[in-house]
Amino acid sequence: MIPNKILMCKPEYFDISYAGNDFMKNNINKFNKVDALNQWLELKKIYEKLKFEVHLIEPVDGLPDMVFTANQSFPFKNTEGKNCVLLSKMKNHQRVDEVKYFEKFYKELGYIIYYTPEDIDYFESMGDCIVDYERDIIFGGYGYRTDEKIYDYLKEISGKKIVKIKLQNSMLYHLDTCFSIINRDTIVIDESAFDDDTLKLFKTLYTKIIYAEKEENEKNFVCNNHSPDGKNVIVQRGSEKFKSDAIILGLNIIETDTSEFIKSGGSVFCMKLMFY
Ligand code: ARG
Repeated sequence: MIPNKILMCKPEYFDISYAGNDFMKNNINKFNKVDALNQWLELKKIYEKLKFEVHLIEPVDGLPDMVFTANQSFPFKNTEGKNCVLLSKMKNHQRVDEVKYFEKFYKELGYIIYYTPEDIDYFESMGDCIVDYERDIIFGGYGYRTDEKIYDYLKEISGKKIVKIKLQNSMLYHLDTCFSIINRDTIVIDESAFDDDTLKLFKTLYTKIIYAEKEENEKNFVCNNHSPDGKNVIVQRGSEKFKSDAIILGLNIIETDTSEFIKSGGSVFCMKLMFY
């Protein structure tokens, strides 16, 4: 079941103050706060226009990455259909404290809450877990921000099929920077992030593959697009190659500007969380 609610966090305290990934490195203190806020408001409007309920979590002073709501939690339905969540353990210390605010959010919603076990060093939820809701498969990226071992635990608590994917390109540090699922047939990938076996597997599962151009992906985060309904695809403005490939497949492209957030290593997919 595809979640129908969107969770976002206003970038009130958004900042690029440390080098948490290759994109941040070159952009310390180089972003425009007003532009960032307007870009975020625009994205929120897009989801509202598509008739998704947008919920907000309060931003917290001193947590500059909280706007990337894909990373702190992994919501799922268990085998009895109950709402559950596995909370992250963030790799960069600057983000660790974000998780407790998400814990509170889920507690108020009555979710069953699971924690990343002590012996697992890090897990960044929907940055690395991409779900094919129709097939009920979780693709679990690991290597940079997520410890492979979390997937045994996630399998145990969720009862779901998990396909583990070792990421190969350190610049593309989360699975959502190099892979996205648009619908049952269609995915977007940046080939530089995967080994041959993974690429073969993608080809056996999906009949339509959009190959993101390496430069366009690094500049515009096209793999970090988001399709909340399998038809509309929200993506960074100016991604010409991606746009023409997607239009040929009959998809509706919604362009928006997330450039201030790309400087921090995230775009549309990371700026929201889908939950139940
Ligand atoms: N600055 C954030 C970090 O490095 C960006 C996170 C983007 N999120 C994502 N799912 N790729 O953690």
